[in-house]
Amino acid sequence: MSARVGPARRHDAVRIIEAKRDGRELDDDEIDWIVEGFTSGAVAPEQMSALAMAIYFRGMTDHEISRWTSAMVRSGTRLDLSTVTRGDAVVPTVDKHSTGGVGDAITLVLTPLLATWDVAVPQLSGRGLGHTGGTLDKLESIPGWRADLDADELRAVLTRTGAVICAAGADLAPADRALYALRDVTGTVASIPMIAASIMSKKIAEGTGALVLDVKFGSGAFLPAPADARELARVMVGIGAAAGVRTSALVTANHTPLGRAVGNALEVAEAREILAGGGPADMVDLTCALALEALAAVGIPDADPRARLADGRAMDAYRAMISAQGGDPDAVPPRAAHVVQVRAPASGPIRWDALGVGRASWLSGAGRTGPGETVDHAAGVLLDRVEGEVVSAGDVVATVHAGDAARLPAAVDELRAALGTGPGRGPAGEVADRLRGW
Ligand code: URA
Repeated sequence: MSARVGPARRHDAVRIIEAKRDGRELDDDEIDWIVEGFTSGAVAPEQMSALAMAIYFRGMTDHEISRWTSAMVRSGTRLDLSTVTRGDAVVPTVDKHSTGGVGDAITLVLTPLLATWDVAVPQLSGRGLGHTGGTLDKLESIPGWRADLDADELRAVLTRTGAVICAAGADLAPADRALYALRDVTGTVASIPMIAASIMSKKIAEGTGALVLDVKFGSGAFLPAPADARELARVMVGIGAAAGVRTSALVTANHTPLGRAVGNALEVAEAREILAGGGPADMVDLTCALALEALAAVGIPDADPRARLADGRAMDAYRAMISAQGGDPDAVPPRAAHVVQVRAPASGPIRWDALGVGRASWLSGAGRTGPGETVDHAAGVLLDRVEGEVVSAGDVVATVHAGDAARLPAAVDELRAALGTGPGRGPAGEVADRLRGW
């Protein structure tokens, strides 16, 4: 039974579970002890699952959440990026994190855009699961591009190009990785304290000095209700401040997809359009809003990100970043063997439901059902007409792309169900709130 007793035997996992079950605030020592015990294997997964369920129902105070986050950071290594240089000068580090939405390829544009200033952008990202895509899946549609860099390679790319997008190593907040796997199978993912601690533990461990969060609401988001997204933003900004990371958050809409492309190579192509000075206005607006917030956090006021998208500087930074990780920035994106058009059933202004479009893209093969599955890089959905546009019955409003024709009927059905009528509800990416922890 020693596996049921914590690492230093100062506490008892059962008492800690009961305390949270009964609504008591856990003290620092209890939190450190249980996270450490879970990481070492001394606290059993079923005990941690029970505690996750107790937290799901009882919540945590801001102090508990910050302590829980730092215990998860300490479960692995914390990168030190305080001496990253560009040229001869040490530069500040700044990163962005999105809580996940449909059509959200902002990272692909924002990371090189920020690198056109004297900053370094360490963007440690993940792969997609379910209806929201993952940044690494998108970039892996570029031939030769490598997501898995070791710490020395990460630093070398950052020093050379000012920007890196790569996979988080296994030693970055391993307690979060193990806890997320339990939450995923126990119905305890949708807990604001645990989502906040999970995201922030990885960002703090990554070593960034400043962080801007894009916290989404709407059907495409993790937490659809605006009030929940705002609360998540408040908690994450507080964790950042407690950990000495200059953190701010924009709370943004994802009731309808961002941009026109949903799917890996399709989103890379759209990101390139923006880097070439064009692209959908909603994506450009949100990219620039996040850029201004990130630059303000590192003491660069009065920046003009639009000018750097228009004059090619951001594209140059993108090309350098992709090449430094083995990718061919000029490669022709993979094309799906099968493309089906979807037409408007009636005339009038249209609406696209973000969750439905994300699910259609996932069903076409762009996403995975479980960890480790491969994705079809060319699959996804391209919207010809976006929310708020007036169409005539029979107009082509979207195309579904798939490598496997057998996937098309379900994807097309899902996309048709995501199409509605009615006046637009405002653009995706519209900023509803801004919170600053500095
Ligand atoms: N993303 C994370 O990294 N963790 C969560 O718990 C939810 C979303």
